[in-house]
Amino acid sequence: MSENHPLQDSTILQVDQLTLEFGGLRALEHLSFQVQSQEILALIGPNGAGKTTCFQCITGFLPSKLGEIHLYPPNHQTQRLNGLKPYQIAQLGVARTFQSIRLYEKQSVLENVMMGRQIRTKASMLGVLLRDRLTRAEEQHIREDSFQLLQRLELEQYAQVTADSLPYAAQRRLEIARALATDPFLLLLDEPAAGMNRQETEELNELLVELRKEFQLTLLLIEHDMQLVMKLSDRIIVLDHGRKIAEGSPQAIHQHPDVIRAYLGEQATS
Ligand SMILES: Nc1ncnc2c1ncn2[C@@H]1O[C@H](COP(=O)(O)OP(=O)(O)OP(=O)(O)O)[C@@H](O)[C@H]1O
Ligand SMILES: [Mg+2]
Repeated sequence: MSENHPLQDSTILQVDQLTLEFGGLRALEHLSFQVQSQEILALIGPNGAGKTTCFQCITGFLPSKLGEIHLYPPNHQTQRLNGLKPYQIAQLGVARTFQSIRLYEKQSVLENVMMGRQIRTKASMLGVLLRDRLTRAEEQHIREDSFQLLQRLELEQYAQVTADSLPYAAQRRLEIARALATDPFLLLLDEPAAGMNRQETEELNELLVELRKEFQLTLLLIEHDMQLVMKLSDRIIVLDHGRKIAEGSPQAIHQHPDVIRAYLGEQATS
């Protein structure tokens, strides 16, 4: 635990001194931050700053050997995430989407969500194969829950078509639906607005605010769209070359000289 960041009661994720190298390249350098329950925290920074790498470490897609990552699930014991596999971290209530959309393209939209749901059920793989009565009942349950999620994200008209036939913005929503199907309390979104037009981005903004309330979610989000970040976030962390260079309210970040130099300045002058 870093001494200058005392743990608050509402902390649900604590990243401490996380350092990760690819060959000689330091993608993350002594990165420490906390995420508070039900806040929307944005992680921003120039290309290659280490944002996705940070998500990969939290969700177990990359090993975190240097530094500590702790999860404080509501009403559960503290969990050290270092060394856990992605599915174990998902089972603890941490879900994510990917920078480049990762769907089961040739499966139906409904099946994509059902696969997210399955990590939360008791049905074993063998049970699924044998399709015994218990798992068939369970599958029906999963199907109904998944359809409800599709309705919530206004995707139900696509339920039976393959995921790759969806318009782009709908594919991004489907990724969110699949993540929600794992019943998370912490949702990590890697550039959810990438490729969206202004109106779609505006709708995404509203959707995320609503979902936070409905599902009591905490959102950690990587995003390059500054308009969205400034409007949506409670708090922002800025990375540059793997290091945290600023942290604060959207207002404070907007005026931070280092941030303007490292990041916003790039856009302001382009
Ligand atoms: N699997 C990998 N192998 C080697 N180097 C990698 C790997 N993944 C990322 N990197 C490097 O680590 C650094 C951080 O990459 P990362 O993808 O985390 O950046 P990012 O902040 O998400 O950038 P972007 O905004 O472009 O998505 C970059 O220099 C990148 O080239
Ligand atoms: Mg990235």
